Amino acid sequence: MKTLIVYSSQSENTKKLADTIYEGMEGETDIFPVDEAPSSQGYDLTAVGFWLMAGKPDPKTSEYLAKTGKGDRLFLFATHGAAAGSDHVKNATNHAISLTNEADIAGIFTCQGEVNPKVLEKVKQKPEPPVWIADADQAVGHPNEDDFSALKQVITQLK
Ligand SMILES: Cc1cc2nc3c(=O)[nH]c(=O)nc-3n(C[C@H](O)[C@H](O)[C@H](O)COP(=O)(O)O)c2cc1C
Repeated sequence: MKTLIVYSSQSENTKKLADTIYEGMEGETDIFPVDEAPSSQGYDLTAVGFWLMAGKPDPKTSEYLAKTGKGDRLFLFATHGAAAGSDHVKNATNHAISLTNEADIAGIFTCQGEVNPKVLEKVKQKPEPPVWIADADQAVGHPNEDDFSALKQVITQLK
């Protein structure tokens, strides 16, 4: 199986998931930050990783996802300040899928990712802080070893 891993990461959380996938995949695997990533054409599986920004995949990844479509087999992975399994995360992953123009979604993995403390303080001070901020204190230290193990479990099912 030939796999492409494409990721976007400002503060390394999502990159850590991308590196975990890279280590865990069997067969030929290429890995690129989204800025330098080729198209998914010619790959059996493309793992696309993003961080949540304003309730959506970050803009660069959104652009990449919009270029995928039928015939592409995608594995989506993401980090976020919001709690895992929250409506906020579900809505964001559904949005990511809607951007793909009916690609085949082979799987999804998300977990919390520690929020840049400066950003966190700033956002907390907004008159109406976004809903995800309530969970962000629990994101400290994530992604952690448990997150990496859970991700490794998920990707073994992709082979
Ligand atoms: C500008 C900005 C906006 C963010 N917006 C959200 C958001 O809407 N929902 C959320 O759950 N987390 C949000 N976060 C938290 C990040 O998604 C989270 O910390 C993520 O793990 C960062 O990934 P990275 O280290 O790969 O850049 C935001 C962070 C920043 C810096």
